[in-house]
Amino acid sequence: MSIIGAGNVGASTAQLVVQSGLADVVLFDIANGMPQGKALDLAEACPLWNSSASIRGSNSYTDTAGSDIIVITAGFPRKPGMSRDDLLHANADVIKSATAETSRVSPDAVIIVVTNPMDVMSQLAWRVSGFPHNRVIGMGGILDSARFRTFVAFELGVSPEDVEALVLGGHGDQMVPMPRFTTVKGIPITRLLTKEKIESLINRTRHGGAEIVSLLKTGSAYYAPAASTYLMIKAILLDEKRMLPCAAYLDGQYNVHGLYVGVPAVLGENGVERIIQLDLDEEEKKNFEHSVSAVRSLVAKLSI
Ligand code: LAC
Repeated sequence: MSIIGAGNVGASTAQLVVQSGLADVVLFDIANGMPQGKALDLAEACPLWNSSASIRGSNSYTDTAGSDIIVITAGFPRKPGMSRDDLLHANADVIKSATAETSRVSPDAVIIVVTNPMDVMSQLAWRVSGFPHNRVIGMGGILDSARFRTFVAFELGVSPEDVEALVLGGHGDQMVPMPRFTTVKGIPITRLLTKEKIESLINRTRHGGAEIVSLLKTGSAYYAPAASTYLMIKAILLDEKRMLPCAAYLDGQYNVHGLYVGVPAVLGENGVERIIQLDLDEEEKKNFEHSVSAVRSLVAKLSI
């Protein structure tokens, strides 16, 4: 597999993949020496991790040829005060070339898009690659759900392992955390927390990325984004059929036509193998539609 972009998210994802021995990795970046240095450092850690995985860094797309998975993390991160959407035009150019170059030499790959604004970049990667839509997927919902799980766990003083959560919609400020489908060992949080408390956790989740950007001041989150990406890679490579919220192409599901947006999906060797349809209540539907229209208006700005 290949990871395009050896910044913090790309390198952390590479670490998870080689440390667990899941796959061999080509770590690509346009910066000279940087992917080579990080890859060599990771390779030197493999004996300590008892891992037989191999990793090498490269500045040449030909080295990514024949990949089963391409993870695209290349692009600019947010600075404090910026929304994910502010990155639209700068990152569109990066995604266009990264997708064109990688899809040409790995025509059978599944592409996982991480670069923001992620839903729109997934739509762009799908268009540019010409791949069937099940083989282009965006990473967002797993991260947003993990943040919601974390905040619920903090609030209730329980292990985040015991919290399940679902966040739908675009990976932007209008994302839709779903309390009705968020549970602690099967108990809906609507029975455990007040409406006001849940509302504040939803709000923190919506701005979870920005909270980290404002603390770090340079760059955005990467440990949890990398862990989320790793789960997708593993589900696909091991054909796990895991149900994970991802940005997937909707072709009428949820009444959305021809757009990438976050929904629960079953991931296996063919990428998105199935989309799970939920019956949304009136308020959920309204919030979901609001989020979808935010994604749609960004897509329109790129004319894709
Ligand atoms: C975040 C960025 C990576 O949510 O989208 O932290």
